Amino acid sequence: MNIQEPQDGTSWRDRLRSIPAFPDEMPDFEVADAPDDPLPLFEAWLTEAMATQVRQANMMTLSTIDGDHPAARTLILKDFGPSGFDFATARTTAKARQLAERPVASMLFYWTETGRQVEVRGPVVEAPEEEIQADWLQRPSSDGQPNPNWVVYRIEPEVIEFLQSKHSRRHTRIRYAREGDAWRLENLTAPEK
Ligand SMILES: Cc1cc2nc3c(=O)[nH]c(=O)nc-3n(C[C@H](O)[C@H](O)[C@H](O)COP(=O)(O)O)c2cc1C
Repeated sequence: MNIQEPQDGTSWRDRLRSIPAFPDEMPDFEVADAPDDPLPLFEAWLTEAMATQVRQANMMTLSTIDGDHPAARTLILKDFGPSGFDFATARTTAKARQLAERPVASMLFYWTETGRQVEVRGPVVEAPEEEIQADWLQRPSSDGQPNPNWVVYRIEPEVIEFLQSKHSRRHTRIRYAREGDAWRLENLTAPEK
């Protein structure tokens, strides 16, 4: 690549490899600990991320589809519950245009201090209008008036994947796939060599 290498003679390849991967202590999570429903697990992991002082534990990467390509950006999770996972934005944004065309999205969390990743994937709907305006009115920049340009979107999850990092690199990975009113649990953890 045509970029400036560090002055001290090391390569970017070496420097990137030298970055420590995980904290010394991470919570344990085994497939046998997985509940039938992914929501309480998400709640527990978010609670533990907040308790472990993860900065902006409500931060995630939202991916949408822009024509033939994925498009991603950092957003804040606004709420979650049995009806879905909420994020808010302006209707004039690229992501709002992309969602009008292809109403599907993926939300990706990574909490460094606990070594945990969660992906939430599914169709996207708009939250009810009163929830949209309530969210707008709670913003620091709100002038107290309704804002027709504001929208809260909701992912109705079809798939939720959890990863607990392990120092051994054999990370615990599970996937929940919605089947009607229930969830099918699949173990994605790599088999032991
Ligand atoms: C930490 C962080 C949080 C953000 N939260 C939001 C958010 O909740 N809603 C939002 O519309 N943009 C948020 N942004 C800005 C988005 O990343 C993005 O730049 C903007 O929404 C335009 O994206 P788009 O052009 O893909 O629609 C945030 C950025 C950062 C760095």
